[in-house]
Amino acid sequence: MNKVSKLPPVATGQAPLGSARRHATRLSFDVGIVTIFGGRLGRRHREELRTNYSVVERGYNCFPNRFPGTLYHKAIQARKQLRAILSEIMAERRARGRDADDGDLLGRLMRSRDGDTGVAALTDDQIADNVVGVLFAAQDTTASVLTWILKYLHDSPKLLEAVKAEQMAIYVANEGGKRPLTWTQTRSMTLTHQVILESLRMASIISFTFREAVADVEYKGKHVFNMDWEPVYSVLE
Ligand code: HEM
Repeated sequence: MNKVSKLPPVATGQAPLGSARRHATRLSFDVGIVTIFGGRLGRRHREELRTNYSVVERGYNCFPNRFPGTLYHKAIQARKQLRAILSEIMAERRARGRDADDGDLLGRLMRSRDGDTGVAALTDDQIADNVVGVLFAAQDTTASVLTWILKYLHDSPKLLEAVKAEQMAIYVANEGGKRPLTWTQTRSMTLTHQVILESLRMASIISFTFREAVADVEYKGKHVFNMDWEPVYSVLE
């Protein structure tokens, strides 16, 4: 994980919160990259992915104007570029044959086979869609909650000390980080987990979303909505 950037010491008051969001975005992107590509993605590919991904992120939600120079047009071009970079990475892997990268998300997607015919389950376009989709789903959401966690911990010094104590106990048990974190240890971070959940409750990046009703819905004896409607529900309440 040495390629993963570090968060600034905002929680100790040594860095402005404005920069925390930028660092959190970088950190969550780096973690996403390690999860998808394993630890061995070359620097050039990583930086090209980062640059193009950030252009997609800036433009995807803009007015869909394909006129050259608009943010939307740039996002479309950058998305094509992401596909080209992923093609290059997949071609390199195929040329290299099976190796340690096989266990990461990209390796698994590339190896997935149709159970009946044994042919590749996904085309390269579909693999690229999945990779970009996971990055998209994981990055901004995680960066947002990390930033809010820093803010809330900064505002509550006693809680910050308690979370640090919980984390330090595990760090010490792992010989100062020499041994990797285990799954069981992540499950034992009771207070840290509560802080994450409470921060998500207080400031979720996704405050509402849509659901399609698969049946007519009644609540407390009253007809609420029809099948096929797409009601909005609040994640916060
Ligand atoms: C704090 C961080 C996150 C938040 C707040 C969040 C929130 C959400 C929400 C509200 C949905 C929609 C669920 C629904 O339709 O009911 C969703 C879907 C999804 N999220 Fe996240 N997410 C987070 C992190 C992640 C991460 C880290 C990944 C991947 C590594 C991820 C992958 C996905 C995917 C693939 C879907 C679509 C699932 C589907 O189609 O059913 N999310 N997320």
